Amino acid sequence: MNIPYGRQHITEEDIQAVVTTLQSDYLTQGPKIQEFETAFASYVGAKYAVAVANGTAALHLNALALGVQPGDKVITTPITFAASANCIRYCGGEVVFADIDPETYLLDINNVRALLEASPKGTYKGIVPVDFAGRAVDLEAFRKLADAYDLWLLQDSCHSPGGYFTDNSGTQQHCGNGNFADLAIFSFHPVKHIASGEGGMITTNDLALYQKLLQLRTHGITKNESQYTNSIAFAGGETNYPLWYMEMQDLGYNYRLTDFQAALGLSQLQRADAGLVRRKEIAAHYATAFAEQSFVKGQSGIVEGHAYHLYVLEVEDRLGLYNYLRTQGIFAQIHYIPCHLMPYYRQFGWQEGDMPHAETYYKHCISLPMYPTLTQAEQDYVIATLLSYYGAKA
Ligand SMILES: Cc1ncc(COP(=O)(O)O)c(C=O)c1O
Repeated sequence: MNIPYGRQHITEEDIQAVVTTLQSDYLTQGPKIQEFETAFASYVGAKYAVAVANGTAALHLNALALGVQPGDKVITTPITFAASANCIRYCGGEVVFADIDPETYLLDINNVRALLEASPKGTYKGIVPVDFAGRAVDLEAFRKLADAYDLWLLQDSCHSPGGYFTDNSGTQQHCGNGNFADLAIFSFHPVKHIASGEGGMITTNDLALYQKLLQLRTHGITKNESQYTNSIAFAGGETNYPLWYMEMQDLGYNYRLTDFQAALGLSQLQRADAGLVRRKEIAAHYATAFAEQSFVKGQSGIVEGHAYHLYVLEVEDRLGLYNYLRTQGIFAQIHYIPCHLMPYYRQFGWQEGDMPHAETYYKHCISLPMYPTLTQAEQDYVIATLLSYYGAKA
């Protein structure tokens, strides 16, 4: 038996959707892109969505659209995939890590506030909160803090499509709905809720940012006549711009998604809610199985609105458990090695002891198998194997 920590689920409908697009006129820059964008925006409750090549490209475009400049300081969490921080570096900005809350594993707003209060206003430009493991960040609180310091908010929701937090008025606020963050990003890597091979999405309610992102996604080129700055005469027209004409107005990239990837993503999106229900069932089963076990130091228990991309346990003897699980065909994973202690970030002066909660968490964390097609029997095997390692009783 081989049980990974996460995996994609591809159905006959998915395959047919891709084949149909492969047989159509457009492999890229065709109609599936907008169809996927419209459906995804509606799924998360945002006004606009921009499909891109992957989640990292989404982050990079966001940093560009938000105008990150060399030397700009941006705050994020050390417990995330490095791309959440790297996007700031792509633009020459400075990443300032703030420690996590040891209960939620999310960026602790109190640590962010302490950083902001310790420096003159204007020192920091933005915050990148991450819905780590699928747990939604309380963005209402972060928005308030960001507004007080004129900061932008970029929500990394790669782990949380379908997740939500409940705001102060009791309303469920879905991750990426654009009500609090300026921009949010998602990834469609195979282990994520929605898979398209590689792929990503940006959501926002801000029209100006949306238009900028569309342009940056395709080399900074616009075909919108009202934005042209060269003259009609230069363009080669007489009374109108000729049909071939376009302008490159910004230094953009080719970060486009293909149409066949969009077709796969769109097909997967139809099953996103069902996948979420199954993930919650799996999480509830783990939570019950490990509730009273003394080897457990912490777990991502049952939290309303959690999208359960990952099910994280903090355990004693994590290395022993990890290695033992592998001998039993269970391939758990570690999320994450604290970003500030990656050799790349150490060069900026980050060192052990800087983020005590993140570092303690890293010593004990392990992500158990979590994906919608994990069967009850497989999950029971994972639980029994884990309990047997510690000599514990089910
Ligand atoms: C939290 C987080 N941010 C960003 C990314 C980057 O996404 P991608 O792998 O699609 O570039 C990932 C995915 O691995 C992620 O987990």
